[in-house]
Amino acid sequence: MTQRVLTGITTTGTPHLGNYVGAIRPAIAASRRPDTESFFFLADYHALIKCDDPARVERSRMALAATWLAAGLDPERVVFYRQSDIVEIPELTWLLTCITAKGLMNRAHAYKAATDQNQAAGEDPDLGVSMGLYSYPVLMAADILMFNAHQVPVGRDQVQHIEMTRDIAQRFNHLFGGGEELFVLPEAVVDANIELLPGLDGRKMSKSYDNVVPLFEGGSRALKDAVARIVTDSRLPGEPKDPDSTALSTLFDAFASADEARAFRDDLRGGLAWGEAKQRLVERIETEIGPMRARYDELMAQPERVEDIMQQGAARARALAAPFLARLREAVGLRAFRRSSERREGQTDKQAPPQFKQYREADGRFYFKLTAADGRLLLQSRGFEAGREAGQWIGRLKREGSTALTEAPVELGESVATSEVEAALTALAEAS
Ligand code: TRP
Repeated sequence: MTQRVLTGITTTGTPHLGNYVGAIRPAIAASRRPDTESFFFLADYHALIKCDDPARVERSRMALAATWLAAGLDPERVVFYRQSDIVEIPELTWLLTCITAKGLMNRAHAYKAATDQNQAAGEDPDLGVSMGLYSYPVLMAADILMFNAHQVPVGRDQVQHIEMTRDIAQRFNHLFGGGEELFVLPEAVVDANIELLPGLDGRKMSKSYDNVVPLFEGGSRALKDAVARIVTDSRLPGEPKDPDSTALSTLFDAFASADEARAFRDDLRGGLAWGEAKQRLVERIETEIGPMRARYDELMAQPERVEDIMQQGAARARALAAPFLARLREAVGLRAFRRSSERREGQTDKQAPPQFKQYREADGRFYFKLTAADGRLLLQSRGFEAGREAGQWIGRLKREGSTALTEAPVELGESVATSEVEAALTALAEAS
């Protein structure tokens, strides 16, 4: 079965080489596998939790979009979007918030770390804690459940959030599913093989240690300067060196084949000068990163092109999110008002599916309509010259749901809400 893989990238800061090796490169490689359907998004609502500087938010989301595209993300293959373009996500967040135990959020690591720190400092435990930070995991659950992802590749620090997502999904299914699994329970995927790339000083590469190698920013000059600052010992050219005494070798490993990596380490043992080793590392990285940097610069110079790509991604994501949310609204009871005789007491889902009917009228034209299980008219088409045309619209409506609905030459039935039609189309798509 095709696995749906989804991951979010918080848009604070600009990416460094560690982000590229640990997250960007493997995610893009995984998105090319034939049996996966990838959803990557810029978690810019999450960025607002940590950052109240609009210029920084703007810069970071643009830089991250360009970075992923330049690194080879194919927006035709991957559904690539900005979280804040999907209006269904905050709406789902609220539905989930209402069934999430406050006690569950009290246990979230990020929140606990903040309160522990405050307490240790003798401050009010909630000092500086916003509601955004507190309910961060609910927004993240909405990101994941909105698209019913099976797998969520994340760093180790995020595994707890996926567990919370499962808890929330299970509770929602139990309360509102009527025996049906509305939400898929997602799995966290933590790649054990991806060691954290060391920074210049050998500790984990991280902005907070000020030991990063920039990915694209600053051009090849900045790469060279950073590599020059990698800490080594004072052994002279010709003296044998321990390849594991410096971050150089591990960085080299991340960009080289096994053979090249072995040769590099052998040469160091054989006396290769540190300066020369650094030169080789720069060249090796540049071979892979150089062409990407050129694409990155090009994209950064044409923001409107990136904007277009993001808009298209959002349209694809919303074509799935909108009808699913319509179904979830039904499930929790946010329904179109209808007569009690038409109401299905206590159950929302177990019913015959809605139906399309195609027919010809006395005027010689071809028509179609969509009727609910109880026979009510949901959609009525206008007349077509050819039967084929009516058939094509039915096909599109079944395949694309609400996206096609906005374009289709149809009218809603009397006192029928768009959300009900969307839910019907989703039900049909799932039944087929
Ligand atoms: N919280 C994640 C991080 O900081 C980013 C994120 C937001 C995310 N929503 C997500 C990751 C959904 C996976 C799925 O890394």
